[in-house]
Amino acid sequence: MLKETQEKYLMDLKAWLSETKEEELEEMTAFFSSRLEGYETHMKSIWGEDYRLFSEKLPKECRHILDLGCGTGLELDEIWRRNPSLSVTGVDLCQDMLNRLLEKHADKPFTAVCMDYFQYNFEKNKWDAVISFESLHHFEREKKKQLYGKIRDSLKEGGVFLLGDYTACCIEEEELLYGVYLEKRKRCHTEEGHFVHFDIPLTEEHETELLKAAGFSSVELSDELAEAALFIARK
Ligand SMILES: C[S@@+](CC[C@H](N)C(=O)[O-])C[C@H]1O[C@@H](n2cnc3c(N)ncnc32)[C@H](O)[C@@H]1O
Repeated sequence: MLKETQEKYLMDLKAWLSETKEEELEEMTAFFSSRLEGYETHMKSIWGEDYRLFSEKLPKECRHILDLGCGTGLELDEIWRRNPSLSVTGVDLCQDMLNRLLEKHADKPFTAVCMDYFQYNFEKNKWDAVISFESLHHFEREKKKQLYGKIRDSLKEGGVFLLGDYTACCIEEEELLYGVYLEKRKRCHTEEGHFVHFDIPLTEEHETELLKAAGFSSVELSDELAEAALFIARK
């Protein structure tokens, strides 16, 4: 991001955080259930093209993949358009989002798992690819580090983790959002382990460090998506 664009972006972000200072944190599942109707239109207005580009990064030879935070399946719409017989397990906290996916793709080889992906049993050497799009920016660094280790172990040799996500444009944004998140959790008396919807993205550098620390043999950062960073981590 250009310096001037970044300054303007941070100024707007600070103004928005100040306007919404008193707003309560919403529980994660309730947040997505209550926005289900406009959800796909909203997401496609920002990441429409990115879903297609993301799907193109999935190696053609994949047979079994795991999607973490699959939601209503926007990335899977594109992935199955290219390969309708691909077998997918999708994990999501929100049953309403999964129901929408199941309505759209009743004919696909899909297993829906309604649970927290931090609690999911990934098993070892099982998946050709693990993918996640616009879900992990809600979680703290240490939690993600452990998850990335489990993802790595669950991939077959040569398997790939494709992470498409919102990243902070600089350390100032990362620290600003994390500070507000902690302050809001405290003010709302949010219990430890309770998931709320608030974005706490890491910078690209910090996300890359976490993936490397999880033991992936290579971590590539692609700038091919327009509105998200794409990390390609290989076992
Ligand atoms: C912004 S949506 C993205 C959904 C989909 N990947 C897409 O791009 O349309 C984030 C999704 O992550 C899910 N999610 C958030 N935290 C989760 C967790 N700990 N375990 C499982 N799913 C989670 C939410 O329920 C929601 O469906």
